[in-house]
Amino acid sequence: MENHSLLSLTVALLGLLSPCLTRLTPRVSFPIGSPGRHLTRFSNPDVSNTTTLLLSEDGDMLYVGARDAVLALDVSHKDTIILRSKLDWSPSEKDLEQCSMKGKKMADCPNFIRVLQFLNTTHIYACGTFAFSPRCTYINSETFMMSVKSDEGRGRCPYDPYQRNSAIIVDGELYTGTVADYRGNRPVISRHLSEGRRVDLKLDDTLGWLEDPTFISSTFIPDEEKIYFFFSEVGREYDFIDKFIVSRVSQICMSDVGGQRTLQRRWTTFAKAQLLCQADNELPYNVIQDIDTLPPVEGAPADDTLFYGIFTSQWSVNSGQSAVCSFRLSDIKSVFSGNYKVLNRDTLQWSTRVQEKVANPGECGLHNASDNALRFVKENFLADDSVRPVGRSLTLVSAEHSYSHLTVQRVQAANNRDYTVLFLLTESGYLHKAVLLQSGAHIIEEVQVFEQPQPVRSLKLSIPKGMIYVGTSEGVVRVPTANCSFYWTCQQCVLARDPFCGWDPFCRACVKASNTQPSIGQDVDRGNVEEACNSVSLTHRARFGPNILPAGELVSVSLNEVVRLQCPAASRLSQQLWERPNSRLSSDLYLHLEDGSLSFVATPTTLGHYLCLSTENGYQQTMAIYHVKQKSNPVAQTPTSYTWPQTHRIPTTQAVARRRPGPGLHASVGTWPKRKETRQGETEPTVPSRDTQVTTRQLGRNLTLWTEESGQKEAEFWDGVPLVLARGPCYLKELVVVSVLLVLCLSLLIIMLIYVIRQRYRSRTAPQAGTPTRDLDRRTPVEQEALRGNQFLSKCNGQALHSGQASGLVCNGALTGSNGHLPNTPI
Ligand SMILES: *[C@@H]1O[C@H](CO)[C@@H](O)[C@H](O)[C@H]1NC(C)=O
Ligand SMILES: *[C@@H]1O[C@H](CO)[C@@H](O)[C@H](O)[C@H]1NC(C)=O
Ligand SMILES: *[C@@H]1O[C@H](CO)[C@@H](O)[C@H](O)[C@H]1NC(C)=O
Ligand SMILES: *[C@@H]1O[C@H](CO)[C@@H](O)[C@H](O)[C@H]1NC(C)=O
Repeated sequence: MENHSLLSLTVALLGLLSPCLTRLTPRVSFPIGSPGRHLTRFSNPDVSNTTTLLLSEDGDMLYVGARDAVLALDVSHKDTIILRSKLDWSPSEKDLEQCSMKGKKMADCPNFIRVLQFLNTTHIYACGTFAFSPRCTYINSETFMMSVKSDEGRGRCPYDPYQRNSAIIVDGELYTGTVADYRGNRPVISRHLSEGRRVDLKLDDTLGWLEDPTFISSTFIPDEEKIYFFFSEVGREYDFIDKFIVSRVSQICMSDVGGQRTLQRRWTTFAKAQLLCQADNELPYNVIQDIDTLPPVEGAPADDTLFYGIFTSQWSVNSGQSAVCSFRLSDIKSVFSGNYKVLNRDTLQWSTRVQEKVANPGECGLHNASDNALRFVKENFLADDSVRPVGRSLTLVSAEHSYSHLTVQRVQAANNRDYTVLFLLTESGYLHKAVLLQSGAHIIEEVQVFEQPQPVRSLKLSIPKGMIYVGTSEGVVRVPTANCSFYWTCQQCVLARDPFCGWDPFCRACVKASNTQPSIGQDVDRGNVEEACNSVSLTHRARFGPNILPAGELVSVSLNEVVRLQCPAASRLSQQLWERPNSRLSSDLYLHLEDGSLSFVATPTTLGHYLCLSTENGYQQTMAIYHVKQKSNPVAQTPTSYTWPQTHRIPTTQAVARRRPGPGLHASVGTWPKRKETRQGETEPTVPSRDTQVTTRQLGRNLTLWTEESGQKEAEFWDGVPLVLARGPCYLKELVVVSVLLVLCLSLLIIMLIYVIRQRYRSRTAPQAGTPTRDLDRRTPVEQEALRGNQFLSKCNGQALHSGQASGLVCNGALTGSNGHLPNTPI
């Protein structure tokens, strides 16, 4: 009981201080099948449950561990992945029979490959669960034949295919973290395949070394001659909280050969420390999900090695959220060289009692140390200090995405500066590409990798080939790390802020940036189009002036009809703005809809010209121009063609105007004519599909493609540019729903306002009881506490402090809610 109240207090306090989460929206989105991002898939009816991926050094071959098979895939070709060899490695009928007799499900009895590493120049070492009786084998990487020699896999590979493990081979020795028994309760970090004087080592069997760990990954740091393991486990040192999970980094020295009497054939150099993914005074993201190593830049000391990890929270207050933290090797080293907690093996209690230091735990080269020193090491292996993230802050926090895997790369941009790029896989199957900037993380794009969420065991980055491989249960998907040619104007190329890409003013194309082209237009830090594209000399968009009044797209309407003008977003980060010549858009007459479109009732005052501008990062471009006219002859409904007065390219859009009550008829549906973005004497960029006019048929095909594939997505995209679909009569329904919601929002706001004012004027002593929502009721008291704290602080983004803006917040919530949830509006 006492424990619980303490826990709730901690959580409540931490929750109270939770940060305001900023929305991290990918700038562009590529749904499955998008022509802007060509994915290569490998799947084979006999191949399933891809678990491990191993890339050859040159990046031409990808070895895949799957269910009952190891594959060699040739990935050196641009358009296809070719199966070179397949090695079948499955348990015999007898093995399977025994497995199911032991009470295991038949579906879990195959051989799931969980270790796949290069052993030496000629052989690959592989281990699999093999019907709950793990085995290892040697595979000749030339002939792709299994050698007759095989090893028992105990301690090298888990028995249970659902248990996570880690394995790495360095100098022909295998270092593993896994459970070493059938039941799955003897976790061990061990070394295998040692020869001669070097003996196989493992953790001592006594309790306390590892507490129900989940192994995530291990890495070898050559300069340190150490292997680091990353895992999460129960943090027994926090004995006031039940099953508090902590993330750990642990180390062992490669030179370790065990003690002479004490710790014989056991690690003498094992030490572990807590990894804290927590900004000061905030709720911790305590469960590590994945981690990747970013080596230091050439010439920099190994101490600058960074580890980027994804962390989630054990508490459902933060469920669905994840954070990325980075840790510096030098910080890990200094924690390991500091003080250690002491384990009393009788009571299994940790204390920070200061002892006379007879040895330095974690130090390499203790094999000739005295028994006294080794006994000391045996009791002191948990560092007192925790490893804190670089800058004591989180690298990235995502409130809406649960990331499961990541890989990190340093990219040199055109200005010769290095940028860190993270590739983050969401549980729902999207790969986010984020660049870390001074101002925070910017998500350049997201690529949908698979349609149905499925377990991913492995994500591999091939830097030389610029490819990412995702191992899914169906096979392997290859995603290029960038496709610069997708951006076909300098503005788009610069606004993307992709360090891989820059605008080449001579070729007039967005190209792969390299430091050898000094003239390249790029501004990763600020995305300043005006500066980076100055060589392209942007003619500023012509606004409505007294003289130039562009015709735009003609929309013929009858009076009192509800008109809806569509405006495509230039990107997900852009904001749309509507303008009329010489008049303001009063909110009495115009409804700005969430998708950027404008809705109003056709009256003599609302007839005329409309211009939709899109602003992103300070750069404004015209997205659409309409001329709303009263219908003279109901038969003539052809939209007029129109040539742009300025150089901004306008994506194809459709204008739809509808009658209000009658059978939803298209008053006019027009396809915006595209103009080639060419100026005198300049050559066209060679992107044919873009620069030729989009025919209606082509467009139609694209449209059907997206409507079929992205059923629940909010906006449809064509080549990454959102297309606003003209759907049948359902707009009327939407409009009604939107209007009802708006009215609800407004009345709620008014009620809230009245309530607040009354509270203020009535009694200042009355307790301010919040109205508990159903959502809140389902939570535990602990979470409610923490949640209240969050709600209180989520206002500090400046979103909800003023009453006028509060309505925006509420309404936004109602209209955006991408998952379809309405906010807790009492209806
Ligand atoms: C890159 O984008 C262009 C334009 O959308 C497309 O034609 C091309 O196939 C894409 N390339 C890849 C590798 O995705
Ligand atoms: C193997 O794949 C199937 C289908 O995706 C999945 O249901 C099953 O859980 C997987 N098994 C393991 C051990 O991952
Ligand atoms: C690699 O290891 C295998 C298995 O132990 C062995 O047969 C082979 O000779 C080794 N190759 C080299 C080049 O050392
Ligand atoms: C440890 O002691 C043995 C003999 O006692 C000696 O041969 C070996 O060199 C010593 N190792 C180290 C690292 O001092």
